[in-house]
Amino acid sequence: MEILEAMEVSKDYTMGKTHVQALKGLNLTIHSGEMVCIMGPSGSGKSTLLNLLGLLDTPSSGQILLQGKATQNLPYKESAQMRSRFLGFIFQSFNLFPVLNAFENIEYPLLFHPLTRKERRDRVWGALSDVQLREVALHRPDELSGGQRQRVAIARALVTHPLLILADEPTANLDSESAENIMTVMQRLNQSRKTTFVFSTHDPRVVHHASRIVKITDGVIQHEGTQATVTNILEKRLSQ
Ligand SMILES: Nc1ncnc2c1ncn2[C@@H]1O[C@H](COP(=O)(O)OP(=O)(O)OP(=O)(O)O)[C@@H](O)[C@H]1O
Ligand SMILES: [Mg+2]
Repeated sequence: MEILEAMEVSKDYTMGKTHVQALKGLNLTIHSGEMVCIMGPSGSGKSTLLNLLGLLDTPSSGQILLQGKATQNLPYKESAQMRSRFLGFIFQSFNLFPVLNAFENIEYPLLFHPLTRKERRDRVWGALSDVQLREVALHRPDELSGGQRQRVAIARALVTHPLLILADEPTANLDSESAENIMTVMQRLNQSRKTTFVFSTHDPRVVHHASRIVKITDGVIQHEGTQATVTNILEKRLSQ
């Protein structure tokens, strides 16, 4: 089933006299249960694409469909509701509240959902278990390692039970071991909870966790396919 579709999506930025076409008529469909990796060099449009897919920004032209429903021109309140019901976000810089502990950070998005206090607490403990952080529930972000902070961010994205989680370079600030752990956690959740993930990365070491790789360059899709297909194409190019 298609969860999210980008149809002929373009995004232009203007800064003074400079115009940048960050995305140029891009088409992409995300299916339920996938783990899609968006790869591409710096400036190729990965963050722009994730922001559009996550309804955090609107395209200059083209459409983003969420569960078959057009998302442009929605009133702010409605698009905020769609975001909070269906989508979760993980950012490179974690974006945790420094004054809240891990438990409270994870609980925060649930305050906007119609749940009792008990239901909310059960959900938070469940999410803490999913990312194996129950023992540090009462620690504030500055009392956690980078890998633990990123796992809090994953739990916060998960706790609302979204259909889809978007993660923009979730491992960029982590050492290799923590990066591998984070990807393993995401892949386990993808398999056990059937949560769909779309993540961007520069890091070739974490790509093997994806079920599909989309390679973008200069705002267009250059290659798309299973990991084996894309690796094959890239290796052929290198040997030419
Ligand atoms: N808010 C903005 N205003 C102006 N130009 C922008 C803005 N955001 C992005 N751009 C430009 O759009 C292009 C794509 O940027 P984007 O951040 O999507 O790339 P990226 O692939 O995520 O890069 P990186 O790997 O460095 O994070 C770049 O040329 C960038 O300079
Ligand atoms: Mg980026």
